[in-house]
Amino acid sequence: MSHNTISLNKQRQPLDHLDSVWLFGYGSLIYKTDFDYLDCKPACIYGWARRFWQGSHDHRGTPEAPGRVLTLVAAAGARCVGMAYQVTPDTFEHLDHREKNGYLRLFTPLHWLHEPGNSEHGKTEGVVYLASPDNEAYLGPASDIEIAAHIARSRGPSGPNSEYLLKLAQALRDMNEHDEHVFAIERQLLALSP
Ligand code: SIN
Repeated sequence: MSHNTISLNKQRQPLDHLDSVWLFGYGSLIYKTDFDYLDCKPACIYGWARRFWQGSHDHRGTPEAPGRVLTLVAAAGARCVGMAYQVTPDTFEHLDHREKNGYLRLFTPLHWLHEPGNSEHGKTEGVVYLASPDNEAYLGPASDIEIAAHIARSRGPSGPNSEYLLKLAQALRDMNEHDEHVFAIERQLLALSP
């Protein structure tokens, strides 16, 4: 599969017949909201885990020297906490462009987090952007120290790859969420810094 997924997403999953759509963000979509939304609240998905296994040609690296960003991998018993945004379907013009480097949209059950101020329990369906191993930008697994070193040396049009990791780790901390994959790589990155 090509790493540019804009037209694939449009063809495979038209959304224009809907009034609004819940989008689930687990990576940069948690801390970088460069789009309008109607509502926003913390949520989680089950059976998926965050992994820094996707290459970034367009945001945190270049085609010659891709950075490492997140995708989700299926993991029995896993719970991935993130942020859900209620958006109008036209927002996907922007989102598909932003997530064009190998990510396909998928509908999945979203569960609202039980926390003060969030009176709504239960679940809904939402869209998540997933980069699977068959996309050309996919990098796959590596050790925490290899991933941290890769992130430390990468940079792209959206800025240093390290910023992606550090902002995400802080956003998860702000949500009281411990993600050992993210935090272990953050520890390795900070140990590399002078
Ligand atoms: C997401 O944040 O949900 C998708 C991956 C990314 O853009 O970091």
